[in-house]
Amino acid sequence: MLEAGEYSAVELSRSGRRIEIRALRPGDRADLAAAVGRVSTQNLYHRFFAVKRNFTEQEIAFFLNVDFVNHVALVAVMEEGGRPMIIGGGRYIVVDRKKAELAFAVIDRYQGQGIGAVLMHHLAAIARGNGLKELIADVMPDNMPMLKVFEKSRLPHSTTREAGVVHVCLRLE
Ligand SMILES: CC(C)(COP(=O)(O)OP(=O)(O)OC[C@H]1O[C@@H](n2cnc3c(N)ncnc32)[C@H](O)[C@@H]1OP(=O)(O)O)[C@@H](O)C(=O)NCCC(=O)NCCS
Repeated sequence: MLEAGEYSAVELSRSGRRIEIRALRPGDRADLAAAVGRVSTQNLYHRFFAVKRNFTEQEIAFFLNVDFVNHVALVAVMEEGGRPMIIGGGRYIVVDRKKAELAFAVIDRYQGQGIGAVLMHHLAAIARGNGLKELIADVMPDNMPMLKVFEKSRLPHSTTREAGVVHVCLRLE
């Protein structure tokens, strides 16, 4: 069986470009930082609930040192200027025995190409394979693209709204 840490799949973007969806590797540090640098302030705000561009060494280690059991991270890689570039990523962190919390970010200029949906599909498959039953996410109410990705996943889901946040719960069974 392929370990989640060796995960790799090829997909096509809506415009027909090749995207590799693969496990995040420790060596991706520089490319990941470059990708974060290309995400707009508004999109960073949706991802972190704050405008965050600088990360401490501890935060960077947390993002990179994933064990693919309790913390699974995938990146979307596309060729740009003749070299592979990270253009998005999605991850989940197990918060409970059967439940994990999702987070995503795709560089602005590549949004709306189905990359978020593809990342969601692969994360759900890995989560199911790892025996998880639920994926949850906290989303800002105006974050229509993220809510749409969850809707498009076709996973049964429920949402509850509180001031300033939508709690989404997707069921994997
Ligand atoms: C959320 C995010 C990851 C989605 O990535 P993506 O690659 O654009 O996702 P997709 O292309 O698969 O789907 C986005 C959908 O939202 C739709 N959409 C975009 N803007 C929209 C809007 N203002 N209103 C309604 N739908 C909208 C797109 O048309 C698309 O739907 P479609 O497939 O029916 O055309 C990306 O927008 C992002 O990085 N946002 C900033 C970070 C963030 O919000 N993270 C979530 C915190 S958990």
